[in-house]
Amino acid sequence: MSLTKAQSEGITMSSGGLYSLATKGAKLVIDAATPLVTEAIESLPDSCMADGFTLSDMGCADAGTSLSMISSAIDTVFRRAPGIPVSIVYTDQPRNDFNALFTNVHGLGPFDTYLDERKNIFPLVSATSFYRQILPAGSLNLGFSATAMHWLSNKVCNITNHVQAVGAEGSELKAFRKQASSDWRQILMHRASELKPGGKLVLINFGTDDQGRYLGNTGGINMFDTFNQIWLSFLDQGRITRDEYENMTLPQYYKSVDEFSAPLVDPDEAVYQAGLRLDHIDTRIVKCPFAEDFKQHGDAEKFAAEYIPTIRSWNESIFHNALSDERSLEQRREIIEDYYNTYQTMVRESPEGHAMDYVHAYMVISKVS
Ligand SMILES: C[S@@+](CC[C@H](N)C(=O)[O-])C[C@H]1O[C@@H](n2cnc3c(N)ncnc32)[C@H](O)[C@@H]1O
Repeated sequence: MSLTKAQSEGITMSSGGLYSLATKGAKLVIDAATPLVTEAIESLPDSCMADGFTLSDMGCADAGTSLSMISSAIDTVFRRAPGIPVSIVYTDQPRNDFNALFTNVHGLGPFDTYLDERKNIFPLVSATSFYRQILPAGSLNLGFSATAMHWLSNKVCNITNHVQAVGAEGSELKAFRKQASSDWRQILMHRASELKPGGKLVLINFGTDDQGRYLGNTGGINMFDTFNQIWLSFLDQGRITRDEYENMTLPQYYKSVDEFSAPLVDPDEAVYQAGLRLDHIDTRIVKCPFAEDFKQHGDAEKFAAEYIPTIRSWNESIFHNALSDERSLEQRREIIEDYYNTYQTMVRESPEGHAMDYVHAYMVISKVS
């Protein structure tokens, strides 16, 4: 089988360029990482700036959220090595909406592109998963990824009491933890092959911070518990079956700082032996832009109408695929529509505490030269 199970289960972001329009927060997360990217480029050894420069954006979706960061990265490369050919390799899964990506990168959509007024920039695209080697050995100067590597290669089991590993218990939690641990090492081993000696990775991943906070759980209403509560109410009302309830298991895991760091700091680890070292890790919270706006405008209807699409942009495909194939497409769409309408009504009627604050680990990793 050439696709991983998670891929074959159809994890896709919203298409038609909606992803970047709906996910203002994801762009803020990347903007916050831009100084790490430019500092990483500034500190690369001279040998890394000699021939062409290759930057990969792994799990790029429609590329709209990283356009500004890449523009700053190119400026930094040119400051060090004026006019050097720069390849920007966009990578995502085969079912990603690459048409939307071309539209954004070539400036045919709503965003400005770094291609304007710059020469010797070569945007390239690969539909190869980050669970495989994407680039030839020793060819990558800087690997970047944001908000993508929490997707596991495999839904290791259904979670019987929740929709995400944050609510899993016992052997189910253990299975997810184990899968996440081996997936992380697999991702890093492939990057170790791709990087030039002295090359760097800037990886911005959803994680759990030292206070146990994670996406949508920073003190207010727990977003994943809300997903689960509504899905469970559909089961209780007989709208979905037990199998469909359990099938809605997000193949994701939010690692702690220790879990992220372990393969990069322990000399017995294969990743360490392959030459990767942890230069920097910190965790940061980027506030939910829609909840922040709501604090200013106070319009609950507007907040609910903006907030639900940002959630929908990344989890709709999983809810959809959890429903039985025996249902007609129309029936499945109706259930999904109802699901998000229920959520939107809940937020509209009682908006306080809802927020999808982002919690990320920001990492810089280098390959020994
Ligand atoms: C939330 S989006 C993030 C997009 C963009 N990097 C950002 O920060 O706005 C996650 C992306 O990761 C991609 N993804 C998930 N698993 C992947 C894999 N194994 N290989 C490559 N991309 C993957 C998804 O298809 C999706 O486009």
